[in-house]
Amino acid sequence: MKGLGTEVLLPKEEIMRRVTELAASITKDYTGKDLLVVGVLKGSFIFMADLIRVIQIPSTVDFVRIASYGRKKVSAGRIVIDKDVDTPVTGRDLLIVEDILDTGLTLSGLVDMMKQRNPASLKVCVLLDKPSRRLVPFTADYVGFSIPDEFVVGYGLDCDEKYRYFPEVRILRESEA
Ligand code: XMP
Ligand code: MG
Repeated sequence: MKGLGTEVLLPKEEIMRRVTELAASITKDYTGKDLLVVGVLKGSFIFMADLIRVIQIPSTVDFVRIASYGRKKVSAGRIVIDKDVDTPVTGRDLLIVEDILDTGLTLSGLVDMMKQRNPASLKVCVLLDKPSRRLVPFTADYVGFSIPDEFVVGYGLDCDEKYRYFPEVRILRESEA
């Protein structure tokens, strides 16, 4: 019988080591700045919680949630926000935090939208990047891990709302049960 199996791709210790390195770069780049960290719900919530606690400068946090139409996204640059930030971003040093960069549609749309609000600066930090899946050109400023084209879950990432609680990132695939 076929079922879904998982296999560890990134153990918790490796993730934490990399989160600490990302935080060190962010600390260096944002010292003296007015850092507003905006997480993309829901997938980024665990990554963002770990990240802001190791960044060595004060930050404020907020979240956005992007509407998804089933599993499909609308065309490039035309995302729909279903929960916007509460904080005005104008004049702030905005760092968008996302779990995974895949086709690039979500982040390119979100970045275009946020730029129209005139932040003082805008950068993007992703835990995972699947460069082989890109449909629109997009490069994140901070990337945790570049990974192959596999569907991954855990550390905040889900499949139909399941598996977010895994401490590690796991590959989800069909297996003979
Ligand atoms: P883009 O617009 O770059 O969207 O295609 C990135 C969003 O797609 C979801 N996504 C995944 N979610 N495991 C997941 O749990 C994956 O392997 C995966 N690949 C893409 C995710 O919601 C991300 O925000
Ligand atoms: Mg997501």
